[in-house]
Amino acid sequence: MDNLLLKIDQYKTEISNFTASDGETAEAFRIKYLGTKGLVKELMGEMRNVAPENKKSFGQVMNEFKVFAEAKYEALKGAENSNGKAAADELDLSLPADPLPLGSRHPISLVRNRMVSIFQRLGFAVAEGPEIEDDWHNFTALNLPENHPARDMQDTFYISQNPDWLLRTHTSSVQVREMEKGKLPIRIICPGRVYRNETISARAHCFFHQVEGLYIAENVSFADLKQTLYFFVQEMFGKEVKIRFRPSYFPFTEPSAEMDISCLICGGPGCSVCKHTGWVEILGCGMVHPNLLDNCGIDSNKYTGFAFGMGVERITMLKYQIKDLRLFSENDVRFLKQFTSAV
Ligand code: DAH
Repeated sequence: MDNLLLKIDQYKTEISNFTASDGETAEAFRIKYLGTKGLVKELMGEMRNVAPENKKSFGQVMNEFKVFAEAKYEALKGAENSNGKAAADELDLSLPADPLPLGSRHPISLVRNRMVSIFQRLGFAVAEGPEIEDDWHNFTALNLPENHPARDMQDTFYISQNPDWLLRTHTSSVQVREMEKGKLPIRIICPGRVYRNETISARAHCFFHQVEGLYIAENVSFADLKQTLYFFVQEMFGKEVKIRFRPSYFPFTEPSAEMDISCLICGGPGCSVCKHTGWVEILGCGMVHPNLLDNCGIDSNKYTGFAFGMGVERITMLKYQIKDLRLFSENDVRFLKQFTSAV
């Protein structure tokens, strides 16, 4: 035990005389005295050789020694810092912070917002309606009575509580709700989610998004419809993109048309995206059928209107050249984080 005490005294003197000029020497001190294989640990290990009656006083001496060595180490670090050399673990508040990963908007939201803002500039206001609709607003009021063959293309999900309730198949139902309010003129766009009973594939899904447009006033003509959609296409896809209308059929418009834009990939000559036609279909539209106006209590002799409806997924796929619809709902961050900026 005396032997040990002598050793400790010697180490103390050694420690007192120790000086450090840089971080490395301070670290060497720590390893020598305080490290896991250091002298303090080693001397502690001697405890088992000390006679039982001396264990207590030796323990005290050892504790003091340990505190002494630790205080010296702190002093060495402090001196070195005040010498102006940064220690490895010193906090430097001037360093840039670790970057926090930022979330990004979903591509469907980005494109929907862009679509909305284009139409808002033309004076269209946003109107919204419920996703769970009744038969009247989704079908019957839109000139699609029960057993109408055009209902076949829009099979959907019904609510078992009430066979009259269903998940809306298109945003055209919002048209009806707005017309029923009876405030004219109406100039609205209706963005929203819609549902269909479809087998999921790269080109179809059981839910997707649409933006519907409706303008009803006196003397609204097909020319107004064309010009409005032409403006939209140029703002969305660029000035060089062309449009064309093809006659079509929708129960809620007469005449009805589908609108194509010139293929964004090949620009006209034909490629696999446009199925070698040079044109890609983007929406359905037409002049509001007088029956709809009558159904909603609007004088069809005085008022006319146009309507259109398009899929947000479709526009997004064309805009970003995305080939598979399922990517939008898989929530794979590697896909989603590619769309950080506004379109
Ligand atoms: N509702 C139609 C659909 O989902 C799209 C549509 C076509 C909407 C013509 C309209 C329209 O307002 O006039 O297929």
